Amino acid sequence: MLLELTNLHVHYKSYWYVFKVLNGVWLRVRRGERVGVIGESGSGKTTLLKSILKILPLNGMIIRGEIKYDGKDILNLGESKLAEIRRREVGMIFQDPMAALNPVFKVKDQLYDILKYKMISEGRNPSKQELYDEALKMLTDVKLPDPERVLNSYPFQLSGGMRQRVMIAMALTSAEKLLLADEPTTNLDVTIQDQILKLIHNLVIQKNLSAILVSHALGMVYQMTDRAYVLYAGDIMEEASTKELFEKPKHPYTQILISSAPRLSSKGISEGIKGKLPDYRNPPAGCRFAPRCPYSMSKCNTIKPEPIELNKEHITCCHLYG
Ligand SMILES: Nc1ncnc2c1ncn2[C@@H]1O[C@H](COP(=O)(O)OP(=O)(O)OP(=O)(O)O)[C@@H](O)[C@H]1O
Ligand SMILES: [Mg+2]
Repeated sequence: MLLELTNLHVHYKSYWYVFKVLNGVWLRVRRGERVGVIGESGSGKTTLLKSILKILPLNGMIIRGEIKYDGKDILNLGESKLAEIRRREVGMIFQDPMAALNPVFKVKDQLYDILKYKMISEGRNPSKQELYDEALKMLTDVKLPDPERVLNSYPFQLSGGMRQRVMIAMALTSAEKLLLADEPTTNLDVTIQDQILKLIHNLVIQKNLSAILVSHALGMVYQMTDRAYVLYAGDIMEEASTKELFEKPKHPYTQILISSAPRLSSKGISEGIKGKLPDYRNPPAGCRFAPRCPYSMSKCNTIKPEPIELNKEHITCCHLYG
């Protein structure tokens, strides 16, 4: 197992309130495995990924739980060891590319920074020319047109799609073992979404990376992952091999989520999911989906369902299967 999260609780604090977002999340990634996380907006997907690298915003607190990465206990690891993991082993593609790029430095300086660290740690002492050549190759690998101009640009001088590719290049350079991709294409126009996805997919396979792909684009998760988790309001609702999850979803939420996904072939627009996510300041005591669930029973409101193993590859948290 490369990564194993157990019973993770994450809260955000504001002056007046505590938002109890992640509520005992678990997740496992085997070596070489591609894992998807799906769930509607606000369900805690980004919070989950940021917790793994301990890069939550300042008001985000990991209250409880365990994160084991490659045999290391992330939550009790020193900051310098963590920094090394972030720079060399685990790369992250952020939902918002500007969040990952520094607006005041040219692209090449940001790439040099990553490359220098990587090359020095491999016992090399790169010259300026070597750094330039390597940075150019990084940008060529992500199929950026006119990479020399991009190297000499500031992030604001690039289009959204170009910034996204620069960030992907950076993430893939840091990702020797694990890639965390958070909605890697939401900011892109549809014509290049597909290209970027293929690009990520090919690079992941070529480097034999493990990956977590977070998205509400279900088709993408279906195509690109081996196993998937369904997150709703900070709780894992279901886990299965991707094929089984999409073809035989068991949890009512998964069933509704999958059937409400817009399909080009279907007639008209699907209804979507009625209701909204619960208030994280005062979340339901039992199943967090109970208030919206068409099958909810009285115990759903009071008792949080334990994970139930339907078969070796399929787990669901629902009292219907108790
Ligand atoms: N810094 C913060 N302070 C307070 N609440 C926050 C903070 N960051 C996120 N949240 C809240 O935590 C919840 C989960 O947010 P998160 O960004 O993890 O969801 P998500 O699943 O990634 O959503 P999306 O699909 O829209 O990206 C949301 O209700 C959000 O408002
Ligand atoms: Mg998000």
